[in-house]
Amino acid sequence: MLIKNVYIKNAKQTSDVRIENGKFSEIAPEIDPYAEEKIIDLRGKLMLPPFVDPHVHLDATMTAGDPEWNQSGTLFDGIRIWSERKKTLTFEDVKKRAKKALKLQVENGIQFVRSHVDVTDPNLTALRALIEVRDEVKDQVELQLVAFPQEGILSFPNGKELMTKAADMGADVIGGIPHFEFTQEYGVESLKFLVDLADKKGKLVDVHCDEIDDPESRSLETLATLAYESKLGDKVTASHTTAMGSYNDAYTYKLFRLLKLSHINFIANPLVNTNLGGRFDTYPKRRGMTRVKELNDAGINVAFGEDDIKDPWYPMGNGNMLDALSMGLHVGHMMGYDDIMNSYKFISENSAKCMHISDHYGIEIGKPADCIIMNSQNFYDALNERAEILYSIHNGKVLVKTEPKRITNNFQE
Ligand code: FE2
Repeated sequence: MLIKNVYIKNAKQTSDVRIENGKFSEIAPEIDPYAEEKIIDLRGKLMLPPFVDPHVHLDATMTAGDPEWNQSGTLFDGIRIWSERKKTLTFEDVKKRAKKALKLQVENGIQFVRSHVDVTDPNLTALRALIEVRDEVKDQVELQLVAFPQEGILSFPNGKELMTKAADMGADVIGGIPHFEFTQEYGVESLKFLVDLADKKGKLVDVHCDEIDDPESRSLETLATLAYESKLGDKVTASHTTAMGSYNDAYTYKLFRLLKLSHINFIANPLVNTNLGGRFDTYPKRRGMTRVKELNDAGINVAFGEDDIKDPWYPMGNGNMLDALSMGLHVGHMMGYDDIMNSYKFISENSAKCMHISDHYGIEIGKPADCIIMNSQNFYDALNERAEILYSIHNGKVLVKTEPKRITNNFQE
């Protein structure tokens, strides 16, 4: 297949891209087609590496309002309501909802997903179901699963055993929730346990870390130290870290040295954390997002996730990373032209680094032919106009094709 006339990642000039045997085989300003070669002429549209959602909860998706709506909007009521819903989980129920969410994500140009899966369930129903989903969708979406102890490791009966069992069953990533453990000591012990488990079992780490508006919540320094000392480094991701939005600047300055040394990644979830954050404030209300701009400026890898799609923590969500990105840029005060133009990295390349998939991700000769083509010339326009995903191509095959909408508008300028 020969794709003609695309602007690759906001390039000034168009390129032609050849795909053979599922891989990118040639990228040049002008490529002559072979006889009988399939040609798609895009006439000057934007080609990007596929979007990535590195943080979502596919086990809980599409359960908003069941058994009740989260009226307070707090993280803690979300956990309480999910705990009730969890009692009625079945294998088929999880699979059906997860696939429904994945279909939406795919339509919106996502090809790589990391889903947390609650393993504070003695039956591990959701994990068993999502392992099956991971296998069933593998030719279309690469799905990583995190063993996520929603109700704690030390603070939930047999928490350590459940985490170990989840790792042995095939979870790709080890998670945690230190700020939700009963005590700070439990939080620290949970981090030591989970980093050690990941190290022993050869897994990645992604911790829900300090997702609270409490400036005293400092699990991040422990996680970064463990990543540094264990040499797991960039295999470790700290998700949320919203407490950093409330840390004082002197402490944060000191912390940044450790963060850089540790090489850990960060994932902010701007849609969900602006919803959950600041809920215990009167005025001024905090924004609920970690220091994305400052982390990025310091050369630390930061990505955005959607986190929740219609569940007890967030009643909205449609699988479109452009919404998460737009919110992140607004809340993070990253609205300079170049900030916006280059912001696709927060939902693509930076996220791929978190997922540790950069070896097979990106528009480069020899890599799997995974890319999206958007109905715009550059990403500034694409984000502003919520441009359609004209094509999503995975392993050289068209996964999604969208016809641009046609509007008859008789407005006279
Ligand atoms: Fe999350």
